[in-house]
Amino acid sequence: MTVLVTGGAGYIGSHMVLALLDAGEKVVVVDNLSTGFWWALPPEATLVTGDCGDEALMKRVIAEHGVTAIAHFAAKIVVPESVADPLGYYLANTVKSRALIAAAVASGVKHFIFSSTAAVYGEPATMPVPEDLPLDPVSPYGRSKLMTEWMLQDAGKAHGLNYVVLRYFNVAGADPQGRTGQSTPNATHLIKVAAQAALGDRPKMQVFGTDFATPDGSCLRDYIQVSDLADAHLKALSYLRAGGASTVLNCGYGRGYSVLEVIEVVKRVSGVDFPVEMAPRRAGDPAAIIAKADRVRTELGWEPRYDDLDQIVGQALRWERFLKTKNVA
Ligand code: UFG
Repeated sequence: MTVLVTGGAGYIGSHMVLALLDAGEKVVVVDNLSTGFWWALPPEATLVTGDCGDEALMKRVIAEHGVTAIAHFAAKIVVPESVADPLGYYLANTVKSRALIAAAVASGVKHFIFSSTAAVYGEPATMPVPEDLPLDPVSPYGRSKLMTEWMLQDAGKAHGLNYVVLRYFNVAGADPQGRTGQSTPNATHLIKVAAQAALGDRPKMQVFGTDFATPDGSCLRDYIQVSDLADAHLKALSYLRAGGASTVLNCGYGRGYSVLEVIEVVKRVSGVDFPVEMAPRRAGDPAAIIAKADRVRTELGWEPRYDDLDQIVGQALRWERFLKTKNVA
């Protein structure tokens, strides 16, 4: 009954490992440590340093650890980088996922949870975005994830692999107990960047675009706290084990905050009025991405615990302070 977590040493994966261990599950992590950190894992989790695209290794790990479910987080996740290096993204996110799915099928693993993204919707005309909207990703990142959704659909039908695809909106915050957080150096994500500006690790930050068709002109995003997201995965695991049919679910709170609103919250919670510069739009940013978020509640019985931007920002700030004092990242 071991759960295999790929990318378990990364930001979201390490929160999933903690959630699984807290729930009494046995966990084996496969991570190539390209962006993850061994120290993000508690000693109770077994770490295999290796690549989830190595099909033979995956078969061996599944057999040796008695793996019955897989949560697949390992991926490249930076949208602009995917535009510059599409083949790198298709390799990391599509080709390697194919190897992992093939290992799962060959080894008789029946439950698979996949980290997908709101980027599969592209620039949707409908807001909030329902799961059954036609998919039209605009970046290689979104396409690389959508292709894996399709592989799961087809492999599910052909081989009886049951899956839950979770489409993440904007993931933020850190473990409320301070055990893990977003540790990637040179992160581009808004709340992390703002937290670093508040702590003086950046001299200033920029707002990318103030002329969008939104109430204050900056982009709207649906920020979901990372432990709430991990909990959705735990619920997905229980759902699959109880015989639930394969499904695709948005993970967000269904509410948008603008970039300017987020920065105000970071200033208020940190008590630091750091410099903010208005800047041109960043290529490829849609004006608004907000989840229609009821299906994950009704299908999985998931309820968020940290749907509160002040708390999310407080957690992000606490984790940034930890990284500074430990000088670990
Ligand atoms: N932003 C700034 N300044 C910064 C950083 C970000 O203004 O220094 C803005 C961005 O332009 C955007 C918003 O803050 O409007 C959020 O940007 P993030 O980089 O934090 O997140 P994205 O919305 O670009 O990306 C997220 C995920 C992706 C996923 C995408 C789906 O990180 O993995 O949502 O839409 F693909």
